[in-house]
Order: sequence, then structure tokens, then C-alpha cells
Amino acid sequence: MESPTLAFFLIFFANLLVLMRAFSLTPQKNDFLECLTDQFESSYSVIYTPNNASYASIFQPDNLRPASTSPYKPLLILTPFYESEIQAAIYCSKKLGIQIRVRSGGHDYEGLSYTCENPFVVVDMRNFRSISIDSEEKTAWVQVGATLGQLYYALAQKSRTLAFTAGVCPTVGVGGHFSGGGYGMMSRKHALAADHIIDAILINANGQVLDRKSMGEDLFWAIRGGGGTSFGIILAFKVDLVTVPETVTIFNVTRTLEQNATQLVHKWQYIADKIDENLFIRIFMISVSSPTNYRNRTIAASFESLFLGRTHDLLPLMQEKFPQLGLVEKDCLEMSWIESVLFFAGLHNQPLDALLSRTPQASFTQNYFKGKSDYVRQPIPMHALRRIWGFLNEEAENMAELQFSPYGGVLNSFSESETPFPHRSGNIFMIHYVVRWDREGNAESERYINLIRRIYSYMAPYVTKSPRAAYVNYRDLDIGMNNQGNNNTSYEQASVWGFKYFKNNFDRLVRVKSQTDPFNIFRNEQSIPPLPESTSWQIIPRANVLTE
Ligand SMILES: Cc1cc2nc3c(=O)[nH]c(=O)nc-3n(C[C@H](O)[C@H](O)[C@H](O)COP(=O)(O)OP(=O)(O)OC[C@H]3O[C@@H](n4cnc5c(N)ncnc54)[C@H](O)[C@@H]3O)c2cc1C
Ligand SMILES: *[C@@H]1O[C@H](CO)[C@@H](O)[C@H](O)[C@H]1NC(C)=O
Ligand SMILES: *[C@@H]1O[C@H](CO)[C@@H](O)[C@H](O)[C@H]1NC(C)=O
Ligand SMILES: *[C@@H]1O[C@H](CO)[C@@H](O)[C@H](O)[C@H]1NC(C)=O
Ligand SMILES: *[C@@H]1O[C@H](CO)[C@@H](O)[C@H](O)[C@H]1NC(C)=O
Ligand SMILES: *[C@@H]1O[C@H](CO)[C@@H](O)[C@H](O)[C@H]1NC(C)=O
Ligand SMILES: *[C@@H]1O[C@H](CO)[C@@H](O)[C@H](O)[C@H]1NC(C)=O
Repeated sequence: MESPTLAFFLIFFANLLVLMRAFSLTPQKNDFLECLTDQFESSYSVIYTPNNASYASIFQPDNLRPASTSPYKPLLILTPFYESEIQAAIYCSKKLGIQIRVRSGGHDYEGLSYTCENPFVVVDMRNFRSISIDSEEKTAWVQVGATLGQLYYALAQKSRTLAFTAGVCPTVGVGGHFSGGGYGMMSRKHALAADHIIDAILINANGQVLDRKSMGEDLFWAIRGGGGTSFGIILAFKVDLVTVPETVTIFNVTRTLEQNATQLVHKWQYIADKIDENLFIRIFMISVSSPTNYRNRTIAASFESLFLGRTHDLLPLMQEKFPQLGLVEKDCLEMSWIESVLFFAGLHNQPLDALLSRTPQASFTQNYFKGKSDYVRQPIPMHALRRIWGFLNEEAENMAELQFSPYGGVLNSFSESETPFPHRSGNIFMIHYVVRWDREGNAESERYINLIRRIYSYMAPYVTKSPRAAYVNYRDLDIGMNNQGNNNTSYEQASVWGFKYFKNNFDRLVRVKSQTDPFNIFRNEQSIPPLPESTSWQIIPRANVLTE
């Protein structure tokens, strides 16, 4: 850290009055730009304002739904290369009372990394994307702006058996994904990405650069599942890698209603979480129409699976536990783990470097989407499954999709409070609901959003209750919001969504927040609120400031 900057921070924090006054200023774009450039010794080349030709391409939202209704676009987008540039942004944010939104991969379901109810700036972490792997120690330092695809690619360059457990979509960013959990095809065997974090680098509201040791175990606990946003700007995670067999087996078996899909989905609920943890079977369900008569609709349930082993071990296992699916040898493909990553990403047989692209592939051209999640602890009865098919059949093929993702396995061996991610033993599976569409227009949006809300409402009796649990990485503002209009970040208001995402861990997250960011510098519609009393803190304990 530059010493003049450090001095500035200390003076600033000693002076509460300045902070209070700052809240009441009306923010102007040029103020932030001026403030930033005053702080920088270098160039403007990492600052994009709407006047820059490339602003639009840098801004490029992942989900056009929240972007289309957001009252503001970022006043500027900062794409830092250095810690000092991020520290400057935090400083200016506090000085001017203008919010920062941090974006790593930009896949937030509600667009909270690039939209805001108030004037704001975006700190886009795309240039913090280096990955360094220690194959001996089986660990890696991964900067937040790397995507999952970049991480998987880097691992495959090192070895056929070194891997990591995280999500399926290669364009998801490490920053948001790891801090919210990170569930994928190996989660029954190797748990979540967050469960493998062993160190981290974060810049807090004071502008201090902290690692695990200097941030302390409470804060380190909070960023391993408590969601990005609330505690600081995370720069990098150090993770424990996992080992996979040289050859794994995949299958993707699709059955329609005429092929007993309902019975198969029903039966799956009795084996999905209990079967050998090397076997992961996930179901995707969509409505499809017959090629000759589009009004003739059915449901296609695809059982997409990864087995950490060979076909000759998989077949007898399926024969014993799930013979109804009728899996046969020709359904199974043996390949390396990284080839399976390509397969599940919809990039089968493409070159490995397809994983390096940061922009979602062409098949994801339905750029408007809304998602929700649920947890299931009792099998859903057959009649309820049939009703779900009715909802899916209301819209054309591919517009509405359900995913059932199995839990159990090693996920059961974590207590609910080990990390902020509380969805552990007792869950059979997680439901992911998603509706997608590709056109602008409020009527369309309303229809699709309405559909997903109606399905969600129908599902209430069949899913977890008190709280109705949800996965923070499938962020859903329907389940409650901090009020952004006033500064009401009351505990009661936030606890509505807080207990759904985190169960009793919410209280500990609030305590950590109150200690690390009592003035709520890092916030959004669903960030952890500090307790009101915590703003009476005058002295923020100084952790060690790392030297570069
Ligand atoms: C197509 C698609 C597929 C997905 N597949 C999976 C899957 O298989 N498994 C799964 O578990 N999830 C999956 N997700 C959900 C995904 O894990 C979350 O959306 C995740 O939060 C995205 O992280 P990001 O960095 O890309 O997003 P961003 O939008 O950049 O960030 C998400 C949130 O974290 C905050 N944040 C980001 N970076 C930082 C940082 N460095 N410091 C502090 N706060 C930060 C942001 O402000 C925002 O609130 C998927 C999402 C999409 C859109
Ligand atoms: C944005 O425009 C300003 C003013 O023209 C220029 O100085 C700056 O370098 C531009 N930024 C980028 C990232 O191109
Ligand atoms: C569907 O299930 C019934 C009853 O279990 C069985 O008789 C029938 O053969 C199955 N159909 C298919 C296509 O598997
Ligand atoms: C509808 O499609 C199913 C298979 O998808 C087929 O068995 C059935 O005969 C079709 N019915 C009509 C009326 O076209
Ligand atoms: C699995 O099969 C279904 C139906 O053919 C298809 O839509 C889906 O894309 C396949 N999944 C993968 C990962 O290839
Ligand atoms: C936020 O709340 C505090 C305490 O209730 C109050 O003093 C302050 O003025 C409020 N700030 C804004 C911007 O409303
Ligand atoms: C803050 O929100 C809570 C819960 O919604 C509400 O009870 C309370 O009245 C709100 N306070 C203010 C000042 O708006």
C-alpha cells in the first residue's frame, strides 16, 4: 500500500463527522472520477465512463432482466490491476457516499454486481484472474476474476487427475461463486468450492489488505458461504484441490412421460442422496413438443450423470440401485475429468480452450432469466410431480426448466454451522427453477416471472419450511430485500431472507458484519446488515496491513 494512501485512510477514519456528512451529499459522476484520479498515480486506463467507446462492451450485463429495469447504469467501471486502485475506490465510495458494486464473473441472478437502486460504480475484477497451482501441495491460489472454466483449464494443463469441485457453467466467476458456496457435479464426493478454501485475500472497509491470519477466523468463516458483497472486496482464494480418477464415466439418459419419466423422477428421490458418493445423478426437466404437432407436449427428464470410476463398475451399481432407468453400456462414455467438464458445459468434443471464453456460449442467447431454489427432505409425491409438468407445459420448449440436484454423500458430514452454507444433512436434493426468454418487453417478462412464482408457490407443501431454505448463489429478491430507499437495514427485515439462505448462521454473519463493516460500506439489496449499535464503534481494530 502506498503510504500517503494509508495516512489518508487513518485520518479519514478518525473523523466520523466527515463520514456522516458524506452520506448526505448528492453524488455526481465527476466527483467520483475526480476523486479516483486524485488517488491514482497512474493513468485513467482502467476507468471506463459512459463517454468511453468501450463502456458498453465492458458493462455487458449477463442477465438482461435486472439490467433492463435498473434505474441507473454505473457512473464508471473500474477494472483494477492493483490493490491500490481498489483501495482508492473504497476511499472514494466512503468519501462521496456512492455505492460500489463488485463484479467478478457477473453471474449474479439478480444482477446485483452491475445494477443498483442508487447511483453507483462497478469495481470489475476481470483483471485479477491469475491462477497459480502447486501440484505437489495440491493447492492453488485463484484470483476472483478467474472463471471456473479458466481454473479447470489450468488444472488440466498440470495433470489428468488434479481437479476442483465447483459449478458446471465455465463462465461463472470465482469471486461470487466460491463466496456463496459453489456446488457442482462432484459435490456428493468432494463437497463445495467454499469447503476447500484454506486462505483468502480481502480488502476491508478500512482499505486494509488482509489474509486469513490477519482477518481472523470469524471473517474467514463468513466469506466461505456467506455470499460475496457484505464483508469487503475479495481478491483471491487459496484452495485445496481434489484428486479424480484418470478415467471417469458420464451418461445423459432422457425419458419422456411416455417412457415413464414421472415414475423415474419419483423413484430417483429414494436413491439420489444415498447412492455411492462417486455417482452423481442430476435431473433436468423441460417441456418438449412432438416434431409433428407442437401442441402435443410432453416432459423430457434428462438424467445427467458423472461417475468417478469406470463403466464396468457403474453398470452393476445402477442395476442394483436404479434398474428402472434401464442404463445400458452404450449410454456410457468414458473420458478424462476435464472432458466431462466440457460435456456438462455443453461443449462436448470442443477443444479445451473453449473453457477460457468469458462470454456465455451461443446456446445461452436467452439473455433474460429468473431463477429460484428450494430444498427437499421428503420425496415429492407422484401427483405433485404431474402438476409440475402442467406448469412446465404452459410455455414453449426450453422456456421453463427444473433441475433436481442430489445432496447427501460427504455434504452430510458437515455440521450446519461449519461454514455459513447450512444445507447439509437431511436434504435429499435442491430444486433449481429457471425461466428464460430472449426478448425485451414487460408483458413477456411478467408472464415468465409469474409462471416461476406460481410454481414456487405451488411447491410450498413439498419443500423445507421454517425457514423455506434457499441457495444464496441462486439469488432471489422475491424472498425479501433490505430496504434501499432509507437506510433501514434492520435485522428483522434482512432476517426474512437471511434465515432462508443461512439458517442460524445468519446471526453469526450479522456479528461478523458489525465488526468488519459497521458503516455498511459493502451493501446491496441482500447484504448482511450490521447491528445498529455497531455504528457507535469509534475505533476499528487495526489488523496487520500486509506489505506487498
Ligand atoms: C449460467 C449460470 C450457471 C450457474 N451454475 C452454477 C452451478 O453449477 N453451481 C452453483 O453453485 N452456482 C451456479 N450458478 C450461480 C453462481 O454460482 C452465482 O451466480 C455466483 O454468485 C456467480 O459469481 P460471479 O462472480 O460470476 O458473479 P458476480 O455477479 O460477479 O457476483 C455475485 C455476487 O457476489 C459479489 N461479488 C463478486 N465478486 C466479489 C468479490 N471479489 N468480493 C466481494 N463480493 C463479490 C457481487 O457483488 C454479487 O453480489 C450459475 C449461474 C449462472 C448464471
Ligand atoms: C476513457 O476516456 C478518457 C478520456 O477520453 C481517457 O483518458 C481514458 O483513457 C479512457 N479509458 C479507457 C479505459 O479507454
Ligand atoms: C413403464 O412402467 C411400466 C410399469 O412399471 C412398465 O410395464 C413399462 O414397460 C414401462 N415403460 C417403459 C417405456 O419403460
Ligand atoms: C403425442 O406424442 C407422443 C410421443 O411424444 C405420442 O406417443 C402420441 O401419439 C402423440 N399424440 C398425438 C395426438 O399426436
Ligand atoms: C442431455 O440430453 C438432453 C436431451 O437430449 C439435452 O437437451 C441436454 O443438452 C443433454 N445434456 C448435456 C450436458 O449434453
Ligand atoms: C440513517 O440512520 C441514522 C440513524 O437512524 C440517521 O442518523 C441517519 O441520518 C440516516 N441516514 C440516512 C441517509 O437516512
Ligand atoms: C425497517 O424495516 C422493518 C421490517 O420491515 C420495519 O418493521 C421498520 O418499521 C422499518 N423501519 C423504518 C425506519 O423504516
